[in-house]
Amino acid sequence: MLPGVGVFGTTATIQSFVPILKVCGFPVVALWGSENLDAQELATQLDIPFSTRKVDDVLLRKDVDLVVIGCPPHSQWFIAVKALGIGKHVLCSAPSGPMQLNAQHMVQAARYYPRLMSLMCYGLRFLPTIVKMKKMIEEGYLGNITICEVKVHYGGLPKEKYDWMCDEGMGGGVLNTIGSNIIDVITFLTKERAVRVHGMLKTYTKQTQNIKGIREITSDDFCTFQMELDKGACVTVTLNSHIPGQFVQEIVICGQKGRLIARGSDLYEQRLNATRESLIHFDPIKEEERYGISPKARTEIPSPYLKGLIHMIEAVKDAFEKEEERQNWQAEPVASASNFEDALYVQTVVDAIRKSNKTKQWTKVDVSVEEPEPNSNMLSDQMRRSTFSLQ
Ligand SMILES: *[C@@H]1O[C@H](CO)[C@@H](O)[C@H](O)[C@H]1NC(C)=O
Ligand SMILES: *[C@@H]1O[C@H](CO)[C@@H](O)[C@H](O)[C@H]1NC(C)=O
Ligand SMILES: *[C@@H]1O[C@H](CO)[C@@H](O)[C@H](O)[C@H]1NC(C)=O
Repeated sequence: MLPGVGVFGTTATIQSFVPILKVCGFPVVALWGSENLDAQELATQLDIPFSTRKVDDVLLRKDVDLVVIGCPPHSQWFIAVKALGIGKHVLCSAPSGPMQLNAQHMVQAARYYPRLMSLMCYGLRFLPTIVKMKKMIEEGYLGNITICEVKVHYGGLPKEKYDWMCDEGMGGGVLNTIGSNIIDVITFLTKERAVRVHGMLKTYTKQTQNIKGIREITSDDFCTFQMELDKGACVTVTLNSHIPGQFVQEIVICGQKGRLIARGSDLYEQRLNATRESLIHFDPIKEEERYGISPKARTEIPSPYLKGLIHMIEAVKDAFEKEEERQNWQAEPVASASNFEDALYVQTVVDAIRKSNKTKQWTKVDVSVEEPEPNSNMLSDQMRRSTFSLQ
């Protein structure tokens, strides 16, 4: 039997998650939004029986066992930590927060409640092309990995209103929103982590038709960074949101024997002795339509990410379905998902890249987390009692 789900947020991510969860058979019973009206409207639209702007009204419900969070990044850690403290499983959408510190709180809570599911939704890990790429790398197709090159091109419409995506402090910007997924998938594919990074972030569009006057966009719209990985590979990434048209994402992994290229949702290979690359995995586009995700949400989340999320939710479903008890789950189906520790690593790299952008120097990546102290348990006790509501 699948657990009841409470969803947090009114973002495009939540608008995509809900239909996917429902098709997979999860009962979605409650929705939280920071504004009553938004929450009500979206709940009606997505056919969810209950909506509220009070966090506890969802978390304390007996019929909610799994909490899915898709909020502006700065407000996610609080809900995640509180949900775990109350004994709910948590799926948190990426990026985990604006900074490393937020992810640290989440890691401490996840370590404190190891029996609860606490996963990050880095969908690319479940995209069939990436899964196949990883398998081929593990089977030695590339030999030792040398160079990873990633290019992401897209062009959003001019922003209509000032929201978290315009604000670096709330977790906006191409580095944090797209780059975090790339940092995660590189580690997933190569099993290597960054030791040193160098980065440059630019904000070329500071004002738009609707955002002008004293308010300025502070989040980066162009970013390029390099990483040196711990077993000798290097990575160079370009994230460019100034190229209107189709979303383009290319992940090239070169090894001593050849290379693999994930272009969108398709996979290509080229051996050293071959004169051209060949298509080895083709992903038809129809999947997202079948899951009833609204066209609007589909334009906001790039197709490879959405496909990945669909496969991830299916894996979560398998994890719960393999157990008789409603609250129990098996680790195996979701073994390849990112956990909060992975999110902490990613967020640490993001912070180091931001630092490098400021100092104009290579920056060391230092993932450290304080062990949960008795105090942090008190903190969650406090949180359990509080009636904090996020604005
Ligand atoms: C691959 O890497 C391993 C470990 O770094 C090294 O021992 C080995 O010689 C490398 N293989 C080649 C063909 O360079
Ligand atoms: C390239 O090398 C692989 C393995 O070494 C071999 O199986 C394949 O036939 C070669 N292809 C060409 C076009 O020579
Ligand atoms: C990147 O560095 C420049 C100064 O070199 C700074 O103006 C800008 O705010 C930095 N961007 C971010 C996102 O930290």
